[in-house]
Amino acid sequence: MGPYKALLSEAITELNLNHVIGFPTETVYGLAAKIDSPEALNLIFKIKQRPFFDPLIVHVHSAEQAKKYVVDWPKEAAALTDAFWPGPLTLVIEKNSLIDDLITSGLPRVGLRCPAHPLALELLQTIGVPLAAPSANLFGRVSPTTAEHVMSEFPNESLAVLDGGPCEVGIESTVVLLKKKLPSSWEFSILRPGLISAADLLKAFAEKGLVVSQVHSSNSKEAPGQMQHHYMPAKPLILCTKANISDAELVNFFLSQVAHLPSEVAGVPIYRPQAKTDLQITELKLPMDSRLAARSLYGELRKAAEKNGDILIFRHVLMAQDPLWAALEERLLKAASLVYQ
Ligand code: TXA
Ligand code: MG
Repeated sequence: MGPYKALLSEAITELNLNHVIGFPTETVYGLAAKIDSPEALNLIFKIKQRPFFDPLIVHVHSAEQAKKYVVDWPKEAAALTDAFWPGPLTLVIEKNSLIDDLITSGLPRVGLRCPAHPLALELLQTIGVPLAAPSANLFGRVSPTTAEHVMSEFPNESLAVLDGGPCEVGIESTVVLLKKKLPSSWEFSILRPGLISAADLLKAFAEKGLVVSQVHSSNSKEAPGQMQHHYMPAKPLILCTKANISDAELVNFFLSQVAHLPSEVAGVPIYRPQAKTDLQITELKLPMDSRLAARSLYGELRKAAEKNGDILIFRHVLMAQDPLWAALEERLLKAASLVYQ
């Protein structure tokens, strides 16, 4: 049997049988396992073909529940969860021994997130145990924003999928590392950009009278899972960040580069087009409004790859002054096989 849409009660039964399920959040769909089931946690890595160095986010129904799994819950953490939970914010903070090393890839910190989706919250409250969940896509591929995306990603798995409709946000949560700076002050870094921006975080700290400085983490040990390629559609995408470039120029650029493309980068396969000459282009288009663009990004990438074209192009002049566009650009740069700039 392949994937199927499940009722909440069926999803809970599956989780209690140490299986994994697909479930909706406001960002993207997740592939969930109970954190107290090593068997199910291992299944996540197996089904996703995910390397063990990439840690999983632990989903909770409340800050109260999150506190059970950390060493310390400073005012700085509470300021963020008061302001943004439930919502698209993952807080990376020192874990205690209740969190298995498999979840954090052996790191001393855990990513905690309380999703703002009624069905996800009902699931978490009913089951009572936090759920470790990555996005429900094969490693390195486009994230799913509908139940149908999850089902098409794992056609050979007997996977129960809770259908909560299309995801409202559409890109993954902002991942924020909160780190102690001696003796009693804290600093933060954004390990993955998302809807919640650095300015939003600074405002939330300031509202509680806290001074927390932002640092830019370039330490791959603090931020594993930040691969060069990710979110890749099933056909090569060229991101063109220059204005007024013709289709023909882009095809020529692609043809001049295709021989140099690696077949994979850090375990993520890089697709090549079927035809080597006379390439047909599919143009990806997104709304100008960043909220709408985020909501439709992954669905549009999937749809574009299903069309007849050999390669996808997306023309986009970088707009990093809008933090949500900056987060989208981070996804697009990783999704692209080539960037014309
Ligand atoms: O919106 C989301 O966050 C979605 C939904 C399902 O909640 N989840 C998600 O999970 O995007 P995933 O596995 O696709 O991405 C998790 C990323 C990791 O690749 C890593 O970059 C970061 O979150 N992360 C998780 N735990 C971490 C930790 N302990 N330390 C540092 N980074 C961590
Ligand atoms: Mg993911």
